[in-house]
Amino acid sequence: MSEEQWWHDAVVYQVYVRSFRDADGDGIGDLAGIRAELDHLVALGVDALWLNPCYVSPQRDHGYDIADYRAIDPAYGDVGELEALVQAAGKRGIRVVMDMVANHCSTEHAWFREALAAEPGSRERARFLFRDGRGAHGELPPNNWQSVFGGPAWTRVTDADGRPGQWYLHSFDPGQPDFDWRNPEVAAEFDAVLEFWFARGVAGFRIDVAHGMVKADGLPDWPGADTGEGGHNAAMWDQPEVHAIYRRWRAVGRSAGDPERYLVGEIWVPSAGALRAYLRDDELHQAFSFDLLVQPWDAGRQRAAIERALDLVGERTPPAWTLSNHDVHRTVTRYGQAQDLGDPDPSDMIAAARRRGPVDLALGIRRARAAAALQLFLPGAVYLYQGEELGLPEVLGLPDDARQDPIWVRSGGAELGRDGCRVPLPWRTDPAGAHGFSPAGAARSWLPQPAWFADFAAERQRDDPESTLGLYRRLVALRHEMLDGAGPVEILDLAAPDVLALRRGDVVCLVNFAAASREVAGFGAGRLLAATAPESSGAEAPEISGPETSVADVLVVPADSAVWLVAARLPAGGDLPTTRAREGSSTPFAEVAAQ
Ligand code: GLC
Ligand code: MG
Repeated sequence: MSEEQWWHDAVVYQVYVRSFRDADGDGIGDLAGIRAELDHLVALGVDALWLNPCYVSPQRDHGYDIADYRAIDPAYGDVGELEALVQAAGKRGIRVVMDMVANHCSTEHAWFREALAAEPGSRERARFLFRDGRGAHGELPPNNWQSVFGGPAWTRVTDADGRPGQWYLHSFDPGQPDFDWRNPEVAAEFDAVLEFWFARGVAGFRIDVAHGMVKADGLPDWPGADTGEGGHNAAMWDQPEVHAIYRRWRAVGRSAGDPERYLVGEIWVPSAGALRAYLRDDELHQAFSFDLLVQPWDAGRQRAAIERALDLVGERTPPAWTLSNHDVHRTVTRYGQAQDLGDPDPSDMIAAARRRGPVDLALGIRRARAAAALQLFLPGAVYLYQGEELGLPEVLGLPDDARQDPIWVRSGGAELGRDGCRVPLPWRTDPAGAHGFSPAGAARSWLPQPAWFADFAAERQRDDPESTLGLYRRLVALRHEMLDGAGPVEILDLAAPDVLALRRGDVVCLVNFAAASREVAGFGAGRLLAATAPESSGAEAPEISGPETSVADVLVVPADSAVWLVAARLPAGGDLPTTRAREGSSTPFAEVAAQ
């Protein structure tokens, strides 16, 4: 990819700064910790880092409540430390993308404090969404909107004379007041904030709740609130005026230098089609595709999600694929639980972090490894959430009093929330210093690690090519070597409905979603590049006896696993099936026997 479009097919590693690595021993991850572990990231082969918010914050929502947009939280470092990280990473070919949270700030932000001290109707209050309450004494919220984290989306303030005053809107926690993006002063302030970080070498921004920044004019009641069904309040999300913000930011990014700065949006909308408008030429470069993330482990459903994402944006702006992040239960755990084949709501972030019963860890790990092989095969950027490369499961058993997520708190424990995917990473097997997360003798880590985290430590996996870390390294290296510039993906129709077959050039990825192995024929005596099932390299499946060996014409793909291979035979020249071939088209590779 050209320098200008470095993000196009990039592998981007998401760093939850608080939990990646603690260099100074206070039990909280920090920027110096990231710099100390750059070797891990270089060995993994990533092109860029996305740092979760590390600005000054009272940490009600761990940095998604920002008190000062131009400073780094002292727990994480300072602006100089951020610049040092950008430089050290840059020397190793890794760019740094930050997180821009502009829908809301923290109640401790100077503007919000000024707003509290000022009169209703003042310029200070006009930067936020303050409204008078309803009812005879303004005792009822201005409308019936619900916060994403549970409970009403409005909180009433107390005036200087001690009397109850106006209400302010918070789409999330009460500690996160929403800005009024219809106010030009807000827009101008954020232009300056972006410029501040671009001047420090930041390559771009992930935009938090990019679909939520503008609310429907007049803040109308939500008709769905009384049905008890929850769901999507259209007045809070995806308003047409939101696009003006991204046109503005794109222009700011363009004038920041060469290459222009990258913008990727977090956009949870009910249909894939709603994403399209955000990806116009003068708006965002990319949007996360959450469709794969919300789908169950099922060939048809995963295939349909891939087709939807590719149809949507085409080759010009390929998706930013994501299977996991700091808001959802980890892949190993999701795939190790009973699969819900009902229709998922792709706008419901909270559902992806919901308790779902017992976990079969071995199964979850098998499937998560196969899912990684699928994700890393796709054209577009691939986002990897820290710890996924270690095969880390969700920590479901955190003690109640250790949990910190406002979702847990505001739902009264009904929703488990997101702490379990934010537990500090295990670097070493030695439990001293929180398994190498902190230096020995440090303070307790901010969330406790279970003893079994030792089994997943990076140190234990580093020299083992069969480990999940070894697999990730191999897949990322192969992706760079074989797939960079390989063009679009074709989905091939095999006779076996539970095997998904994808092709880019002569490289093929087969994913077997079934609980039994499947035999696939028709590729000729190709070359096996990678296999995700541990037994693939053992005696049980001699025809795929190890990476880079020849494979016989009949290939056994073990249950819940994936292989990458170079096919020796492909359909005759010029007669390839059309991209993303649908049912009814030709069957180029026959599936010979399903067991
Ligand atoms: C986004 C973030 C999430 C945060 C929320 C509010 O969805 O990913 O972590 O809580 O926005 O800022
Ligand atoms: Mg620290």
